Amino acid sequence: MTSRIPGFYKLDPDQRLAALAQSSAVPTDCLERYRSEGLTLQEADLMVENVISTFALPNAVAVNFRLNGNDLFVPMVVEEPSVVAAVSNMARLARDSGGFRADADAGVMIGQVQLVDVADVPGTIACIEAAREDLLAQVANVHPRLTERGGGLRGLQVRHVRYEEPGYPSEDMVVVHFLLDCVDAMGANMVNTVAERLAAPIEALTGCRVALRILSNLADQRLARAEVAVPASVFGPDGERVAADMASAWRFAWADPYRAATHNKGVMNGIDAVCLATGNDWRAVEAGVHAYAARDGQYRPVTSWRYADGVLRGRIEVPLQLGVVGGPIKVHPTVQSNLAMMGVRTARQLAGITAAVGLAQNMGALKALSTEGIQAGHMRMHARTVAATAGASPAEVAAVTQRLCGDGEYSVERARVHLESIRGSK
Ligand code: MEV
Repeated sequence: MTSRIPGFYKLDPDQRLAALAQSSAVPTDCLERYRSEGLTLQEADLMVENVISTFALPNAVAVNFRLNGNDLFVPMVVEEPSVVAAVSNMARLARDSGGFRADADAGVMIGQVQLVDVADVPGTIACIEAAREDLLAQVANVHPRLTERGGGLRGLQVRHVRYEEPGYPSEDMVVVHFLLDCVDAMGANMVNTVAERLAAPIEALTGCRVALRILSNLADQRLARAEVAVPASVFGPDGERVAADMASAWRFAWADPYRAATHNKGVMNGIDAVCLATGNDWRAVEAGVHAYAARDGQYRPVTSWRYADGVLRGRIEVPLQLGVVGGPIKVHPTVQSNLAMMGVRTARQLAGITAAVGLAQNMGALKALSTEGIQAGHMRMHARTVAATAGASPAEVAAVTQRLCGDGEYSVERARVHLESIRGSK
């Protein structure tokens, strides 16, 4: 199967579904489900409190992707124009040199149990460390089905944490970290249950008071990595300059947190869109990625780009706490279709894909910023919305968009002028 469908963007949604059906990448029943209403009000009402309706967003597909030698279509839920186009375009540029490569760690999450009012820090730490195996044994059977699926506890560490804010009295805490391999689940509920179960034995053991018992979203035991290498020639006749400027743009982000925040926002355009499409908790992923970006004390870009010997090499490493089972993933019919579209069965596969999409998105942003600037492409994509706002029917949108792009002016007033002229010439 090939994920390369030239002109996919020019089709209408029905034709796109037909093109996907022809590619045989997606089971027919999943494609049919895209035509249904998606999440029903009844299903939504079971998910959260006080529901009054559902809220729709575009569910799009990034084409051209080749990952670890296999082609795939990537579903992306996003409201911002250019994001899906950028990923598809960068995937197209990377195809001939092998596409993207990605891998991800096992689904190990960290749970935290915080001890406060600790009088003897070294003694408390030593006491917990001596009882490590016993403590782990006490919670080993909290999730028997997780153990059957190959997951479970992977260790326990004890940390001394000190609150030392100028002008306030300092405080010592001891924080127990346990590691739980949640396999294919994101794992928040499983981790929080274990954290709460560990509280009483730890209190009994240490005589200290347990305060917080909760997972850490800095999921740095659950990293995903992706990389890509492309010859400068893919960027056109001026490719060497473009590739060198893209690497230079990355160095700007490495050196300056103001730029790094925007750089990483672009990465998250891709990552969040896949999180949403697959029913994952994008707030957790956002929190984890940004905390990881600041791990050396300065907020840095989560990707890196180097240009040497005519080849531009990009790399990303991010904590991705993603699941393919549990919660909204099971309930939401569109999520099920989206997972089926990628043929994803494990959380590790999904994390690898998501990291690669983040890298592709970043590559697209750096390319645009190093060439014509971000606005030209953005406005070209936005032009369709402008045309529709001006009153163009679905059949008229393409013609109005073309004229808006032609004269590089994207106001609704201008779109109305084009629309009237198109209607008048019929
Ligand atoms: C816009 O959503 C994202 C960018 O600002 C990212 C970047 O500047 O690298 C284009």
